[in-house]
Amino acid sequence: NDNGLALTPPMGWMAWERFRCDVDCNDDPVNCISEKLFRDMADRLSEDGWKELGYEYVIIDDCWMNRTRDHEGKLQPDANRFPSGIAHLADYVHNRGLKLGIYADMGSFTCMGFPGTPLHRIPLDAKTFADWGVDYLKFDGCNSNALQQFLGYPWMSQALNSTGRPIVYSCSWPVYVGSLPPEVNYTLLGEICHLWRNYYDIQDSWDSVQFIFDWFFNNQDYIQPAAGPGRWNDPDMLIIGNFGLSLDQAILQNKAAIAINQDALGIQGRRLLKEKSQIEVYWRPLVDSASTVVFLSRRSDMPYKYHTSLSKLGYGNGTYQVFDVFSQSQLQPLSSTQPFTVSINPSGVVMWHLTPTNRKAVFHRL
Ligand code: DGJ
Repeated sequence: NDNGLALTPPMGWMAWERFRCDVDCNDDPVNCISEKLFRDMADRLSEDGWKELGYEYVIIDDCWMNRTRDHEGKLQPDANRFPSGIAHLADYVHNRGLKLGIYADMGSFTCMGFPGTPLHRIPLDAKTFADWGVDYLKFDGCNSNALQQFLGYPWMSQALNSTGRPIVYSCSWPVYVGSLPPEVNYTLLGEICHLWRNYYDIQDSWDSVQFIFDWFFNNQDYIQPAAGPGRWNDPDMLIIGNFGLSLDQAILQNKAAIAINQDALGIQGRRLLKEKSQIEVYWRPLVDSASTVVFLSRRSDMPYKYHTSLSKLGYGNGTYQVFDVFSQSQLQPLSSTQPFTVSINPSGVVMWHLTPTNRKAVFHRL
């Protein structure tokens, strides 16, 4: 979608993976889906250094709604859990320099059984969200059929645009029609949506993370060319280290990693190699002839010493400045033909940012 929004991948916080459909605020006032939760998260993003790093959207997922529409047919929030209303919550979030996202579903009901947005409700719901000051819509696809999706996803795109309010539009369409061409038309998605969920929901486990990225890279020939400024594949929300993964704020707040994710070229990375040793190598180009290489270990024994050279990874002749993103250290400049060894922890990664010293190196076999 080239209306100038989401020129780099949207960053922020989304409720679903951690808080699901916890609607029992009597029993669980801290974790239930309520305006308090989203206000608290807006406070955290703005007070704990996240906002400065680019984390901008606070996104409500399923289970915010009242079980029925109001007398004008409008969606309304659950009055006990969102007593001040969504417009008020949007003000709260905006006052902290952040943006508010919301969730709807393009079928008869949301996945958790709250009111859906069938076709004839699309213009009204788009207008309601715009009137409330919403900045991002996640449009899910439970309880809809292929024809409704085919009509509804483009229609919502149009309806959001005609509100005149800039609203990032996230489509779950591919998940519901089989994820790959020919069922999914990634060119069309790029025209109507700013991002789209391609595949299964992420869960709080390393198995789930691997399952999802394996699918993305096994299908990179379809998925990778679809991405670019204003049009992103969405492997689902960040797992922030509550239970199943280790808490690693240093990674989520690592400026170099964020800069790579937010690179203005917007070219999605690819897997270059899958070695018998269970080491994998990933690569993406960045602005100004810079690039990133990621070495990933799928092993579970001990740190593995991987031997290679930049020319083996497809780099053109020359010398490169190398910055190790997670140890945050500048390594010795590396000539493309010089063999090197990198030590990769079990289920760990080493991520490098490379810049050609002559600034005009040529890649690559991508
Ligand atoms: C399915 C989506 O893929 C999830 O991310 C979440 O939005 C749930 N639906 C909510 O019901």
